[in-house]
Amino acid sequence: MLQIYSFFTLAILVAKVLGDDLKQSLHGTWTTKSNQVFTGPGFYDPVEELLKEPSLPGLSYSFTEDGHFEEAVYQVKSNPRDPKCPIAVLIYQHGTYDLQDNGTLTLNPIKVDGRQLLSDPCNDNGTSTYSRYNQTEVFKWFLVQVNDYHGVYELQLYEADGSPMTPMYLAYRPPSMLPTETLNPTESASSSNKKRSLRSLVRRGLENRHRTNAVKRNDSFVNSKYFKWASLGLVGAGSFIFLVT
Ligand SMILES: *[C@@H]1O[C@H](CO)[C@@H](O)[C@H](O)[C@H]1NC(C)=O
Ligand SMILES: *[C@@H]1O[C@H](CO)[C@@H](O)[C@H](O)[C@H]1NC(C)=O
Ligand SMILES: *[C@@H]1O[C@H](CO)[C@@H](O)[C@H](O)[C@H]1NC(C)=O
Ligand SMILES: *[C@@H]1O[C@H](CO)[C@@H](O)[C@H](O)[C@H]1NC(C)=O
Repeated sequence: MLQIYSFFTLAILVAKVLGDDLKQSLHGTWTTKSNQVFTGPGFYDPVEELLKEPSLPGLSYSFTEDGHFEEAVYQVKSNPRDPKCPIAVLIYQHGTYDLQDNGTLTLNPIKVDGRQLLSDPCNDNGTSTYSRYNQTEVFKWFLVQVNDYHGVYELQLYEADGSPMTPMYLAYRPPSMLPTETLNPTESASSSNKKRSLRSLVRRGLENRHRTNAVKRNDSFVNSKYFKWASLGLVGAGSFIFLVT
């Protein structure tokens, strides 16, 4: 009886991963191990046009179930000309995503909304370059699974050439994101009007965020819900092996 129950548990888990709720499995805010970079108003303030440098480098992606994404990147690269002088880059993008049946995930940014802040301290005289940024991103496929060690959901994206990216972990579900509408609709709109409507958009986004039941991940703490999920998976896998051998 226990075996049958566990077998069904496994079947449900497998269906969950392989089934048509791939979009649902992406849903949330994901961040790399540093746990410092998160999409949302803490990273980019579109009203003040300000990208805010997190305390450590990392990557964060958010996905909604209805096809929107947001991306926050804080990368520090070594400078080929002077290893003591690293180059830092902050990137914000948002837009919509397509998920093909074969698992390929394409991120289509709203071109006018993306921003990049590039800082090359030994060559830019202390003035970082702030500019627009738009880059369509294609991931060949992705995998969402429970990370046994951390006991949290892990998202593994694979680049277009199939190489794995740094894994990310679920930080918020529902996701922490700025409004998904175009934030900088036209260049010609009077700037004060634009700012005011942007401000209300962002405020609305923040209010939505506070209404969510998003829970911040606690690294030093194994969430019992996820842990149970993982354990059930293990029981299921054990029984599955028992059944087929
Ligand atoms: C999935 O389909 C798209 C377009 O049909 C293609 O570009 C992509 O390479 C396919 N992905 C895989 C993993 O085969
Ligand atoms: C998008 O990026 C390309 C390449 O950097 C650039 O030529 C183009 O003007 C950008 N589009 C917008 C709307 O910013
Ligand atoms: C930095 O300042 C020096 C001296 O004022 C100047 O010669 C150089 O062109 C500046 N570099 C940049 C990237 O602005
Ligand atoms: C996070 O972990 C710390 C240290 O173990 C603990 O004191 C704190 O209560 C935890 N917070 C949550 C939200 O679980």
